[in-house]
Amino acid sequence: MENVILLDSVTSTNDHAKNLAAAGKPHGTAVLARQQTAGRGRMGRSFLSPEGGLYLSVILRPQVPAAELLHLTPVLAVSACDAVEEVCGVRPGVKWINDLVLEKKKLAGILTELSIRADGSVDYAVCGIGMNCNAPDSAFSPDVRELATSLLAQTGRETDVVCLAEKLRQRWVQACDTAIISKTEHMDRYRRDCVTLGRQVRVLGKEPYEATALDVDDDGALVVETGGQMRRVQSGEVSVRGLWGYV
Ligand code: BTN
Repeated sequence: MENVILLDSVTSTNDHAKNLAAAGKPHGTAVLARQQTAGRGRMGRSFLSPEGGLYLSVILRPQVPAAELLHLTPVLAVSACDAVEEVCGVRPGVKWINDLVLEKKKLAGILTELSIRADGSVDYAVCGIGMNCNAPDSAFSPDVRELATSLLAQTGRETDVVCLAEKLRQRWVQACDTAIISKTEHMDRYRRDCVTLGRQVRVLGKEPYEATALDVDDDGALVVETGGQMRRVQSGEVSVRGLWGYV
């Protein structure tokens, strides 16, 4: 556990880890907090982070150009499913691109932030995950209860958050080290876990549209069919029919 820095409370473990990475902390260093006061999600959203959850950020230093790492977040998502299965005995699915799902509700989200040098190489990646662990369903407000779940609600057991965090850290380091050499293998596993595939989706953005999700390519893009045309969705958000409130 010497690679994990444990904090009681922090604004955001990603921000703390970014400071440590900029100061030179090595590949595999992690920050775990009992709570965050300004947790961040994708697309500038805030991420509610009360006690009882897992808030972990890992510093990774992949030795490849950023352009070759478009699939990093999906690879980390599958590895997170592996860690949850190993420690808790349940395997989440993945909602494209970065959400872990159990029983059609959100269990966890991943936020990857890269620092890229002028020549396109990666100085560091800070990869954060927030997971609802030991909060009962009653801890969520009624509107959030419809959309989110916790390991406790799904398994009936408390999770050892520090143990799960260490498994996540180890699996993320290994995933990063093999991301390029085993790219298709990692992405085949992602496609198997991805609950978005085969579903009706709404692709959000300036001009939202309805589509069918057909595939995820090896760079992590979602391949959809809409009005007889194929499109690649590289970033942004999709709602999946049947998942958290989209009917
Ligand atoms: C999302 O669902 O949009 C991603 C959520 C990522 C939350 C984690 S919690 C640990 C780390 N620190 C943060 O501020 N964010 C990530």
